[in-house]
Amino acid sequence: MELRFSEALMDLRGSATREIWSKAKKPGMISLGGGSPARESLPMKQLEEIAAEIFSDYTLMSRGYNYASTEGFDELRGQVLELAKTFGIEIPGLGLSNVMITTGGGQAIDLALRTFVNRGDSILVENPTYLGFLQVAQSYGAKLTGVEAGDNGLILADLEEKMIRHKPKLLYVVPTFSNPTGKTYTRENRAAIVELAKKYNVIIIEDDPYSRLRISGSAVPPLKNFDRENDCVIYISSFSKVISPGIRLGYAIGREEIIRKMTIAKQGADLSSSNISQLLVLRYLEKGLYYPVVERAIPVYRERKNAMINAIGKYFPEEFSHTDPDGGLFIWGAFKTPIDTAAMFDEAINRNVAYVQGQTFYADGSGINTIRLNFSNENPETIERAIKILGELSKETIAAFHEKKMPAAS
Ligand SMILES: Cc1ncc(COP(=O)(O)O)c(C=O)c1O
Repeated sequence: MELRFSEALMDLRGSATREIWSKAKKPGMISLGGGSPARESLPMKQLEEIAAEIFSDYTLMSRGYNYASTEGFDELRGQVLELAKTFGIEIPGLGLSNVMITTGGGQAIDLALRTFVNRGDSILVENPTYLGFLQVAQSYGAKLTGVEAGDNGLILADLEEKMIRHKPKLLYVVPTFSNPTGKTYTRENRAAIVELAKKYNVIIIEDDPYSRLRISGSAVPPLKNFDRENDCVIYISSFSKVISPGIRLGYAIGREEIIRKMTIAKQGADLSSSNISQLLVLRYLEKGLYYPVVERAIPVYRERKNAMINAIGKYFPEEFSHTDPDGGLFIWGAFKTPIDTAAMFDEAINRNVAYVQGQTFYADGSGINTIRLNFSNENPETIERAIKILGELSKETIAAFHEKKMPAAS
């Protein structure tokens, strides 16, 4: 039978990171490709104890095993608002109607897009940005335009010029420890972005799964906190990177009318996020376990990031420039020679190391010479081994590139 797939998915490639996962299943493979938190930092013992508690409480589980409201348990939404205060979202008047629980931050992104985007609508994104966002936005038929970024955040002149030229409905940013670059926007840059969004009537999707994974430096308030009237920023975060990705819980905080529309969109998607996961996370937060687990995880991340930075210094070619982020999960780099990191990938897999070619994170398909390296997934010794292999491979690839470019001998 002929399969008549939807136009929405017709042109979409599978996620490069998912494809890497399937190739990286080979025995002995070292993966610098994914975005998983360190296995060692997952609070498995605590979750086991909380699960035992809640599963033996039949009154509680009569809620857990049943259907529940689409926006999530009220107690959990309340806890989320309290938690959000601790990382700087302190806006007068925020209440339960401004928050919804979602199936991971990924679903909140999808619902926000579904709420706003018609085919052909324009969306601005940082260049480069989270691949998952690019894919979902493309499936809704959005026109994506990349905004240039520097060390302080988005280049404001470029942002304003593109707001005027493209009249975007949405701006999507990962302003803290970005996926893929690891960079963080300054406070001033955040305030200015929110000003511009208000001036040009653009809704901002602020995606913030990583800000709690801070290894060094001091915290910067979310963009949401510069949106004092709770007007134009939809703040999205997740329990994936701190508690567990498998729990599949995230949340969105924003204007009541927006949250209401996103809730209607969610009804058609999954009715509600897993009640059992919600009860687990609710108990977890009520017991005050969130920050202790972050504190335990940070030294693991610091050690791994430092191992990767040191190994890059030791083994990568000098022409490789890279970020040294204060947190998150990724180091991002570019080779000065325009070698194609996608073409280098299969040989890296032959040598048992996986990474993500940077091009997949660009709305305009540029960035062939860039690469994203994850430092959370492997221990320091393995990271050093993998970076040595990639360093050697990239030197060989650069040498081959220059040989091919050299004029033929007469
Ligand atoms: C920037 C960004 N946003 C959203 C997500 C989705 O995460 P989850 O759905 O597990 O919360 C990820 C996952 O890696 C991410 O890196």
